[in-house]
Amino acid sequence: METKLIYQALNEVEADAVAVVLFEGGEGLPQAQTWIDELRSSGEFTGKSAEIATLHQPQGLKAKRLIAVGGGKKDKFDAAVLRKIVGTVVRAVKQKGVRKLAWMLSGDNDTVTAEAAVEGAILGNYEPTMNKPSSEAKPLESFALVAPTHLAELEAGLKRGVILAEAQNFARDLGNQPANLMTPTIIAQQAQQMARDFKLDIEVLDRERMKQLGMGSLLGVAQGSDEPPVMIILKYQPEAGVKADGKASDHLALIGKGVTFDSGGISIKPAQDMEKMKYDMCGAAGVLGAMRAIAQLKPNVPVTGIVPSVENMVSGRAQRPGDIVKSLSGKTIEVLNTDAEGRLILNDAITYAKRLGCTHLVDAATLTGAIVVALGHVHTGAFTNNQEMLARVLAAAKEEGENMWPMPLDDDYRELLKSAYADLANIGPRWGGAITAAWFLREFAEDTPWVHLDIAGTGWLDESAPNLAKGPTGVCVRTFAQLAARWA
Ligand code: BES
Ligand code: ZN
Ligand code: ZN
Repeated sequence: METKLIYQALNEVEADAVAVVLFEGGEGLPQAQTWIDELRSSGEFTGKSAEIATLHQPQGLKAKRLIAVGGGKKDKFDAAVLRKIVGTVVRAVKQKGVRKLAWMLSGDNDTVTAEAAVEGAILGNYEPTMNKPSSEAKPLESFALVAPTHLAELEAGLKRGVILAEAQNFARDLGNQPANLMTPTIIAQQAQQMARDFKLDIEVLDRERMKQLGMGSLLGVAQGSDEPPVMIILKYQPEAGVKADGKASDHLALIGKGVTFDSGGISIKPAQDMEKMKYDMCGAAGVLGAMRAIAQLKPNVPVTGIVPSVENMVSGRAQRPGDIVKSLSGKTIEVLNTDAEGRLILNDAITYAKRLGCTHLVDAATLTGAIVVALGHVHTGAFTNNQEMLARVLAAAKEEGENMWPMPLDDDYRELLKSAYADLANIGPRWGGAITAAWFLREFAEDTPWVHLDIAGTGWLDESAPNLAKGPTGVCVRTFAQLAARWA
């Protein structure tokens, strides 16, 4: 889809449809008042958030349709609301003959407005049709933001929004592919292609190299699959001469769980819904998407993306419950449940990140069903060993409209991972499963500032939302890119 910024008055805009936002209680774009008064007095339109009313062949306009979009209460209107309502309109009109959509900006036209609007459009226009030639989805051809006067901030916002939303859709593409078409090897190839396209350094560790290094924890998960495991390392370095203010030594690591299929292993999952476990690499997809955006936004801090990727399968070679493995850190782990595999691959990635000199770590993982019990599909669960680091991540998430909620990680929970035979067990008792999983990772982050994001509930939409297609959401891409951008 083409995205552009044009400077015109409402009556001059040529498009299949032009959308204007109107608020509850009367306020909206003055230019559209005549048409809108009619809609309001008829009772068809009140301005409630995401409400849509369409006027065909509106007199005096060049556009074929005028779409009134509810903005809700004006004092609650922000970038997150705008992103959502643009996506909702795009999804509503693209199946109804609209190919070229224009969107009137009004009021406070700053960078954030343009960015959020264009993100909403690109994300809403996305459909997972790559393996469905018979699909009748008809995406928009163009989305134009219309502003009354020229503003440099709008240009910047549009550019940034395109970068972020396309990166997020890239992550959604990775997550949508089924496990036969998105193996660890294919993820590595995709990462290599992306690194070439956006000029990032990349290294892919293979099984042999990981064996030499001593990543026994990751390799234990991988041993049951015929698909070889990989550890992908993507490096972004700010241009020479540019240094992060004051803290020139900061180095951010983004780590993403890349289990391309999670059968559970010998502790096998029930058949019901098992197909969904192709999404168990959505943390990895988020990291790859974020690195794609970071390569273009060029923040002032070095960022390393690390993706441990394996397939968790059942076979005669598969790891058994009770097996003890030795991680890269040297700590031994008793594998009480082979379905708690995410933490087994992430711990080696965390240790490796520290060895690469990363000073701040963030990981994203579809780690536990328990976080879905706790927070549903609304918030990502955020855990940390460092409140300052958490505050930075939450601030970035807020700016990007991604919901995250801080979870506890008190010492009392650590007791629950004790093992009689190894340094720690890979599961705790039934309750508090998202927290014991996070504590497991914390054991490897040790004192390095670290935030863990459990995206099991937010990485995937079971049903499409008004503004987004069903399936992988690409969550964390925008937050991670924003975190890096705002670091310095
Ligand atoms: N990938 C799953 C997490 C998951 C489970 C996401 C269900 C969405 C729905 C993870 O590898 C897993 O299986 N976790 C187990 C841990 C348990 C064995 C301690 C879980 O949450 O059931
Ligand atoms: Zn599992
Ligand atoms: Zn898993």
